[in-house]
Amino acid sequence: MVKAVVAGAAGGIGQPLSLLLKLNPLVDELALYDVVNTPGVATDLSHISTAAKVTGYLPKDDGGKAAFKGADIIVIPAGVPRKPGMTRDDLFNINAGIVKGLIEIAAEVAPKAYILVISNPVNSTVPIAAEVLKAKGVFDPKKLFGVTTLDIVRAETFVAEIVGEKKGQDLTIPVVGGHSGETIVPIFSQISSGAKIPDDKYDALVNRVQFGGDEVVKAKDGAGSATLSMAYAGYRFAEKVLKAAKGEKGLVEPSYVYLPGVPGGEAIAKETGVDFFSVPVELGVNGVEKVTNPLTGISDKEKELVKVAIEGLKGNIQKGVQFAHNPP
Ligand code: NAI
Repeated sequence: MVKAVVAGAAGGIGQPLSLLLKLNPLVDELALYDVVNTPGVATDLSHISTAAKVTGYLPKDDGGKAAFKGADIIVIPAGVPRKPGMTRDDLFNINAGIVKGLIEIAAEVAPKAYILVISNPVNSTVPIAAEVLKAKGVFDPKKLFGVTTLDIVRAETFVAEIVGEKKGQDLTIPVVGGHSGETIVPIFSQISSGAKIPDDKYDALVNRVQFGGDEVVKAKDGAGSATLSMAYAGYRFAEKVLKAAKGEKGLVEPSYVYLPGVPGGEAIAKETGVDFFSVPVELGVNGVEKVTNPLTGISDKEKELVKVAIEGLKGNIQKGVQFAHNPP
């Protein structure tokens, strides 16, 4: 029996993500948690004739514990999204506390769950999650993931437009580093098809992958940030985690993980000087099976991008760790 939880399930990402999970035959039970509206969302989804049993919970239901109890996978898109002019870092003050609270519940009633953090700023919320889990003595770095899949999805789409692929999904493009602005590093020298990005398009393409989220924030004009493409991306990652847990092999997707705690990560932590970094992760029955070093053989331009990303990440990670130890 597989129990999946979506925390923030009534939100812009949470609702379509919950819909996709309701359609997944690997999910037996889908528990929706939010501070508002989950009874309605759960009842609505429960009328879909797929197998997963859907339940909705609010804080009054044992402060969230009833929802999280015994979960196998917890996906967290809870928090506030960006408005025009905001960076992901501007969300820190509100979302840091929300993520900390949700991870505390998970640590208590679902310590073995895979935890997928979507709430921004991912560069800082994942270190917060790690610190909370460490403090509770239940940190398994192989099961904590910052979801950066949307950056990969955007890279696939934008590169496909340039190289004339019909479906970006057929390309594998590592996007590594972090998940905000200049910490996002697309490695175009490693596009699976061997496609090359023309020199005159390179800088604009890098910029579009790094700041693609701003296009959505601007177009939504105050009504939030990416929700539908994020639900797709979050689902794609969750589905891979679930399939790998069932024994499927060869499933790889970059994710923002705690390097010193995952096989193959220690050397990358030494090379980059940061403990958290998004790297290609091979998934297995216990979560991260191994990570591969995406920096081997990269171009000089990519080396420059990585350098900038690392500088940004250092501050983001430190901010998260400090918050976990000394919340305001
Ligand atoms: P939203 O405002 O539409 O939904 C957030 C939901 O979280 C709301 O329903 C709210 O009631 C709920 N919530 C707030 N506090 C909560 C708590 N303590 N426990 C449970 N639920 C709580 O926002 P949206 O657009 O769904 O975005 C959610 C988060 O995802 C934001 O932080 C956003 O920045 C982030 N995001 C991350 C992306 C990524 O690539 N990792 C991409 C796009 C957004």
